[in-house]
Amino acid sequence: MKTCLITGENSGIGKSAAILLAQEGHKVIIGCRNLERGEKALDEIKCRCPFANVELRIVDLSSQTSIRSLSDNLHKSIERLDVLIHNAADFDLSRKGPVFSEDHIETVWATNHLGPVFLTYLLLDLLKKSEQGRIITIASKGLLTFPFLKVDFDDPEFKNRKFSVTHAYYQSKLAQVMYTYWLSEELKDTRITVNCIRVTNVELDLSRYPNLSKMMIFLYSVKRKFSISPDEMARTYVFLATANELQEVTGKYFNEKNQVVTSSYFSKCKENINRLMILTMKYFHF
Ligand SMILES: NC(=O)c1ccc[n+]([C@@H]2O[C@H](COP(=O)([O-])OP(=O)(O)OC[C@H]3O[C@@H](n4cnc5c(N)ncnc54)[C@H](OP(=O)(O)O)[C@@H]3O)[C@@H](O)[C@H]2O)c1
Repeated sequence: MKTCLITGENSGIGKSAAILLAQEGHKVIIGCRNLERGEKALDEIKCRCPFANVELRIVDLSSQTSIRSLSDNLHKSIERLDVLIHNAADFDLSRKGPVFSEDHIETVWATNHLGPVFLTYLLLDLLKKSEQGRIITIASKGLLTFPFLKVDFDDPEFKNRKFSVTHAYYQSKLAQVMYTYWLSEELKDTRITVNCIRVTNVELDLSRYPNLSKMMIFLYSVKRKFSISPDEMARTYVFLATANELQEVTGKYFNEKNQVVTSSYFSKCKENINRLMILTMKYFHF
């Protein structure tokens, strides 16, 4: 039995992954930012899997204080962590301008890139206690539509350029791919593996995004025809979290068919990866 932590689990793929992992008998800790939505998800998971060993923790990935408090709680409540899945993401495409977190950081960058890096750092000792710890980051197949996208090392938060939530979202996902490569190298002498999932088009619950324009709703309804279900996508999460054949596989990027795929030239460049991680580390007060 593995102990797994999945963030952003009160909806979509995260919730499906929690159910699948619980059904396989693993202990699942769901990390949600909202108590009410988290409790509702907990009830649903227990309903679909009555014997689920599942617990709720509250965490807002855009807040370093909240991440720290989740880490403190886990250090008191679990002996080791086997699987950490960074599923939570901020991608409200109806957003017109940047929103800043309580740490005064643009929330897409804070939630989708900085949050996972900080949480991993704080939980590394628990992952090292696992027989074979696994860290799973989440990116997007949509990155293929922006093959020349770069992380703007001078202005990742759009302080001096026009904000685009799409651009901010894909920049954060590109950064997660690069972070995966960096961390897998850093941890190459440990038993911990780090891999990234390239999530494809997955059905979204549009009621979660009430401010979408009519145009966006139309585009999503077209997109839905080419989407797979959260349950289908979650099978790749479970594969990466549990498959025996992946015990020594690290630093790879997987698609929804569990195949290794490649990422952009920019994301694989060592100099870019190092620049990203120098920039990233400056955000934290360790
Ligand atoms: N659906 C797709 O087509 C698609 C495509 C490519 C990649 N992905 C990636 O797949 C992953 C799962 O997405 P999904 O489709 O399942 O979407 P979703 O249903 O919207 O799930 C996103 C989850 O992240 C949580 N979240 C957002 N901001 C948070 C924060 N600051 N702290 C903690 N939790 C936060 C949300 O919680 P709240 O309920 O509190 O908002 C929600 O539970 C994401 O990483 C996404 O980028 C999805």
